[in-house]
Amino acid sequence: MKKKIIGVILATAMVATLFTGCSGKSEEAAAPATDAAQEEAAPEAEDAAPAEAEDAADATADAAGGDLASKKVGVCIYQFSDNFMTLFRTELENYLIAQGFSKDNITIVDGQNDQATQTGQIDNFINDKVDVLIVNPVNSSSAETITDKVVEAGIPLVYINREPSADEEKRWEDNGWNVTYVGCDARQSGTMQGEMIVDLGLEAVDLNGDGKIQYIMVEGDPENVDAQYRTEFSVKALTDAGFEVECLSDQVGNWQQAEAQQIVANALGQYTTDVEVVFCNNDAMALGALQAIEAAGRTVGTDIYLVGVDALSEALENVIAGTMTGTVFNDHFSQSHSAADAAIRFINGESNDYYIGCDYVKATKDNAQEILDMVK
Ligand code: BGC
Repeated sequence: MKKKIIGVILATAMVATLFTGCSGKSEEAAAPATDAAQEEAAPEAEDAAPAEAEDAADATADAAGGDLASKKVGVCIYQFSDNFMTLFRTELENYLIAQGFSKDNITIVDGQNDQATQTGQIDNFINDKVDVLIVNPVNSSSAETITDKVVEAGIPLVYINREPSADEEKRWEDNGWNVTYVGCDARQSGTMQGEMIVDLGLEAVDLNGDGKIQYIMVEGDPENVDAQYRTEFSVKALTDAGFEVECLSDQVGNWQQAEAQQIVANALGQYTTDVEVVFCNNDAMALGALQAIEAAGRTVGTDIYLVGVDALSEALENVIAGTMTGTVFNDHFSQSHSAADAAIRFINGESNDYYIGCDYVKATKDNAQEILDMVK
């Protein structure tokens, strides 16, 4: 078992008005609230010695009457080709096995970013009478339909990574259903991205000396609150610190490296040296942005700044080398373990909170090696 970051549970849901990018267009969305968004969680490395991990697994298996090995787990991932969800599902499977489930009884399927495909997979799991379902929805807005059919079938349900609306979560609570969501508060990650830029100081970042920070925003899937909140809160951290900002370009890169590369190449071609900061909602897109930045003959840390989210190994290596300004560790260990633990509690007839959170961690040159050692 790998080392892990200890997550802190955040709670409470609220409805907020979001402003996305240059257009200032607004929309209603729901997400968990936290007042910890400004605070950096200290990375606490915990050595999980194999023997201790095995003892813990035995204890959990005993608590379940030792029969977790016979329980069937269905896992729906929105898209296997997503880098972050690959880390998540690999750790989830390993941890489930360490807790006593049999590998043969864990079925993980690829929704191929298509809700109809995923809904069919959920129907199959229901027909197969799995003991618990863990779902990373393609569209969070389909959660109501998914919840209804899974609850109707009497199967406990753990949503991961893509948070359903506050109204949907309230329905679970009001009805006392065995349904929960496990994830981090994306506002915190956006705030941390902005803070890493603020910490460089206005003078360093305002490369053209016009008193404003000109930036490009590359967004993930706009249906996903992670994309909405990272977009809003990264910029808010700058304005909260008194920086004046100017958005040059705000486009959707759908979490994909190649799309981001194209977007940033075009924006750099159009706005050239005016671009001071590139914000990407995740690291896959930041890696695409970096390719475009280098192709344009620009140098991160010298004449442009670049931040992402996730702390993929490649991104951390770039942070260490100075070719990325920073990233934010999206703790897939804590999230996958919490999801599995919640599933086990449901199987054991226990209940769960309706929202199970965890903290993000800033990754800068100062601690990127430490985080890389943990994730590798
Ligand atoms: C991650 C992205 C990922 C997305 C999938 C986000 O939390 O930061 O990298 O593509 O989840 O839903």
